[in-house]
Amino acid sequence: MTHRNFMHAYDLSATELQSVLTLAETPISKLGRPLDGKGVALIFEKPSNRTRHSMEMAVVQLGGHPVYTRGEEVGMDVRESVEDITNVMSGYHAMLCARVFDHSVLHRMAAVSSVPVVNMLSDFAHPLQAVADVLTMQQSLGKLSGKTVTYVGDFNNVARSLCEASAMLGMHIRLGCPEGYDAQDNELLGLTELGAASVEQYRDIAIAVTGAHAVHTDTWTSMGQESESAERESVFTGFEVTNEIMSLADSNAIFMHCLPAHRGQEVSPSVIDGPQSKIYQQAHNRMHAARGVLAFLMGVQQ
Ligand code: CP
Ligand code: NVA
Repeated sequence: MTHRNFMHAYDLSATELQSVLTLAETPISKLGRPLDGKGVALIFEKPSNRTRHSMEMAVVQLGGHPVYTRGEEVGMDVRESVEDITNVMSGYHAMLCARVFDHSVLHRMAAVSSVPVVNMLSDFAHPLQAVADVLTMQQSLGKLSGKTVTYVGDFNNVARSLCEASAMLGMHIRLGCPEGYDAQDNELLGLTELGAASVEQYRDIAIAVTGAHAVHTDTWTSMGQESESAERESVFTGFEVTNEIMSLADSNAIFMHCLPAHRGQEVSPSVIDGPQSKIYQQAHNRMHAARGVLAFLMGVQQ
């Protein structure tokens, strides 16, 4: 039987992403319990608050049973191979979801899995976060086509998936990233090909943020990069989203952060805890977005 995976935002077409956003806002009672009597594996090689809780609750809301498993418990390529783990688990579960250090592990899982593989964050992409991000922007800004989203900081997993989903919805994309931690030319071109209204990258975050409708940032040091944190703190000096920076954005601009946040590093307390911040709505939308994605993968039509 053919099935779909969700390892990158662009694994959905633009139309399918719109369907997922509609499913995310569809009352649970109208989704028909597509996971009734089924299991969903949630494998975590890294810590999590939002992703674990939102995914567990989304599975329950769709009638299924989430099985949380720590990475070291299954020991991918340590206790047994990724392929053996995947082949075995796909006999128990309707979906296999994993948070991994190395994105290639998801591709190896997808190559042998008989059920959908879902990326719950890798070093390369965080597509479940991106669905919640565009859902939150849409709730605040209305139709996203033609609006401007700016990402400030490290062009990391969160930034990449956010830009892909935003491009698919026809947004103008602006990046404010330091050299060496920025998007490569082929990625910028890829965003245009996905449907971005425009794509621009700047070193000066004041230029990147000017006129933006939504300003996003993320940690300077992602999970797995802890040994680089001192160097990164030095490189990213000047990349903090402050009130002064937010004042350059559209007067109704919103501030977003996937969390966990580091107040006083990538964002000032007065911004993240201020009136423009949507961080808790964004975090709560992780559950609704996850439910929309899982329902879509189970074949629920909007
Ligand atoms: N934003 C996010 O993915 O948070 P967690 O790492 O807590 O899951
Ligand atoms: N970029 C961060 C996101 C955490 C949700 C990381 O990968 O650690």
